Order: sequence, then C-alpha cells, then structure tokens
Amino acid sequence: MRLTVIGCGYVGLVTGACLAAAGHEVFCTDIDKKRIDLLNSGKVPIYEEHLDEVLKRATAQKKISFTDDAGEAIRAGEVIFICVGTPPKETGEADLSAIDHVARQIAREARTPKLVIEKSTVPALTGVQLQKALAAYSRGGAVKFAVASNPEFLREGTAVEDFFHPDRIVVGVESEKGAAVMREIYEPILDRKFHCPVHGGNCPKDPNAELLITTISSAELIKHASNSFLALKISYANVISDLCERIGGDVEEVTRAMGLDPRIGTQFLKAGLGFGGFCFPKDIQAFIHLAGTIGVEFDMLKAAERVNKQRIDRFFEKIHKALWVVKGKKIAVLGLAFKANTDDIRFAPALEVVRKLQEEGAEVHASDPQAIGRTREIFPHVCYHEDPYKALEGADAALICTEWKIFRTLDWEKGGRSMARRLVLDGRNLYDPKKMQQMGFEYHSFGRA
Ligand code: UGA
Repeated sequence: MRLTVIGCGYVGLVTGACLAAAGHEVFCTDIDKKRIDLLNSGKVPIYEEHLDEVLKRATAQKKISFTDDAGEAIRAGEVIFICVGTPPKETGEADLSAIDHVARQIAREARTPKLVIEKSTVPALTGVQLQKALAAYSRGGAVKFAVASNPEFLREGTAVEDFFHPDRIVVGVESEKGAAVMREIYEPILDRKFHCPVHGGNCPKDPNAELLITTISSAELIKHASNSFLALKISYANVISDLCERIGGDVEEVTRAMGLDPRIGTQFLKAGLGFGGFCFPKDIQAFIHLAGTIGVEFDMLKAAERVNKQRIDRFFEKIHKALWVVKGKKIAVLGLAFKANTDDIRFAPALEVVRKLQEEGAEVHASDPQAIGRTREIFPHVCYHEDPYKALEGADAALICTEWKIFRTLDWEKGGRSMARRLVLDGRNLYDPKKMQQMGFEYHSFGRA
C-alpha cells in the first residue's frame, strides 16, 4: 500500500521505516528541510537502536523516500499518518496547532480520497475536530476524507522492536472500510512478514499481537489512559520508597514482591528520580486538562504529577545532607538522557538536577553515552566527558541520573580512586548498597536503608 507520513520526528521515522520494512511504499515529509536533506543523505537525525539499519534497507529497496514538498507526499499516499508534535501549552493542554496546520494542508493538496490517521498523541475528541477541518478546507467537498486513530505504544530506545513485536495494535475507525485498510497495513507485522533487525530472523515465538478495532474516541482515550496509568504506577512506587526510608524497609524488596502478583506486575515500579521524557509528563498534564474541561475530577493524576515533581527536591535533600555545602564543589553527573538507550533529554530529570546544581554554584562534570551534544546547547558551562571515569576525577560526589548499562557496570574501585571523596548519590538505585559501603563509599539511593 502507498502510505504518507507527515512529520519525521521519532514517531514518524520509526513508523515510516518499519512500515516500509513491512513491504509498504512510504513517502515521508517534514517542514524542516534540513531534516529532510539529512535523511536524503542517508543520516538519521535521532539515536534509536536499529533505526539506521531499517532505514538503510528500506532506502536500498526503494520503499521509502523523503521530500520537503508536502503536497507531493500527500498526493502520493492512499493513507496519511499524521506524526507531528503535540507539545504542552503553559496550561498543560496539548497544543494541536501542528495537527490543524497539517489537516488544512491535506485538505488543500489531496486530489483523491484519503484515510487520515492520527498517530501523534492527541487528546480525546481530536478526531472529531480533524474530520471537521478536513471537510471545511477541502475543495468544496470534492475530495472525501475518512479519519482513524492509531495510537503508538513505542518506547524510546526499543521503538523498532516495539513496532515489529507489539503487544497490541489499536485502531479507532468510523467504518468497516477504514478497519479493512488498517488491517491490510498491519497484516505483515501481525504475520511477521518483514526482516527483523532486532532478532535477525530468529524472532521469539510469542503469541501474535491483537489488533483491536475500536471507536476513534476509545482509541484516543486508550493512549492517554495507558500512559497516565504507567506514570501513576511510578509515582506510587516513589511514595512507597519514601515510606520505606522513614520506616526502614527496602523499596526494591517491597515492589518486587508486589509485582509478582500478576494483577500488579513487576514493571514500572522502579523508584528513584521519577519519570521524564516527552510522553508521560505532557500526556498526564493533557489528560488532567481534558478531564477538567469536561467536568471530571482526576485528582489521583494530579497527585502523581506532584509526587514526580517532588523527586528532584527529595534528591536534593539527600545531596544537602551528605555534601552539606554545594557551592564550589565538583560534582559528577552520570546520565543526562531521560532514560537509557536514547539521546532524548526532553523533560529529563537529570537536566533539572544540573540546573539546580549550577544555581547553587557547583562545578558540574557530566557524562552520557548519547545525550552530551543536545545538553551542551542548553548548559554550555557544564564540563562534558565522553568517559565517565574522567567525569569522576576529583569529584566530591557522583550523582547517578540515568540507568545506562555503562553506569550500572561501572568499576567503582577504579572510579573511586580518582574521586576527592567517595560519595555516590544514586537516583536510579543501580547498585547494591552493601557492596558500595564495602568499597568505602558513602552511598545514598531511594527507599533503601
Ligand atoms: C512511554 C510509554 O512507555 C510508551 O508505551 C509510549 O508509547 C510512549 O511513552 C509515548 O507515548 O510515546 P517512553 O517515554 O519512551 O515511553 O519511556 P518509558 O520507558 O515509559 O519511561 C518513561 C520515564 O519513566 C523514564 O524517565 C523512566 O526513567 C521512568 N521510569 C520508568 C521510572 O522512573 N520508573 C520505572 O519503573 C519505569
């Protein structure tokens, strides 16, 4: 099938590349000409494991192309995926101006009927507005548009694997015809008819994902309800962690035992610095805002958001207690990305930590395997080190902010030798407190005595 992808950010690129790998012909466009030029020169503008490989293969097979001519891309596809950004406004409400812009563009440029799919994360009822905009701006109703919602559940860092091996595919449609088109698009994924770069032809034999056909409003709600629930889970674990500190329990023991109950599950109960990234913080805000506008109180989400913001304060309480004065101290920050395996620093807890350290007059030395380039643009006065051991040299304290494997497996004997003081404050609970103490470290983490 011929598919158009509008917006070559992380969601658009992964969607476009993986659908091309599944045999569709994909036409990608973006208003950022530099990004299109970069993609046309064979480079990938974001760090996402396996994405370069999938793109290279699809390009060689002439299954994917990139153009900054939106009209050309719109006319080329039978189906259009809208993958543009929906950033938060000051009020927490999602800013849908890019979706509106694209809707008008599609209506103007299309010459044949199109199925227009919301792939960007949008609040419920966006589908209705999208349908209205397409009809209002089409050439006197000459071209017919249908709308569908197909939320993505990809996690940054494992997005390619998630796309090829989903646990569910949700499609909200308004007609049987729309459902049939969506089934055809995802058939190769469901039937595993693609080259999987993650497992190299040896994909695990887990049961095939379910394709859920729903109404458009349900599909929109499923996305926000899922992300907000996961965010709630993390904040819940963080409050348990605070309780553990006061009572003398161990949050890792408590959440592990809780998670063994299949009704709860072990994932997303990791206590620490809390959630960041471009999804949870903005989605939880947008969901609270949406509920508010229709008169539904969603206090538990407000509490989850508040708990998450307080994680940085809790970390700084620990820092002040251990280090006393921050001003003039040399502090190593290990991890800048909002989580491991990505170069994404949007709403990363680490950035808040760096900002506060600088405000308090610390000399910050930071290390991250992928996110230094992006962070340097925001904090030019931080000293950056590719090698984490260099960041530790002469440091009065090391702060762990991202759960990268390279930090998890760090040789602390080696690192500790060059530090001015053996003090580690672990915002991601990566190490065994006993082992750290045996190595002579003063070690503080979250929810562990
Ligand atoms: C999240 C969802 O997990 C995806 O399903 C969804 O598609 C995506 O948002 C989206 O809406 O696009 P992502 O933002 O990539 O994916 O990151 P997660 O792996 O969910 O982690 C979010 C944050 O929570 C990270 O900062 C992570 O460090 C933190 N976290 C996660 C915890 O603090 N504790 C945990 O137990 C798990």
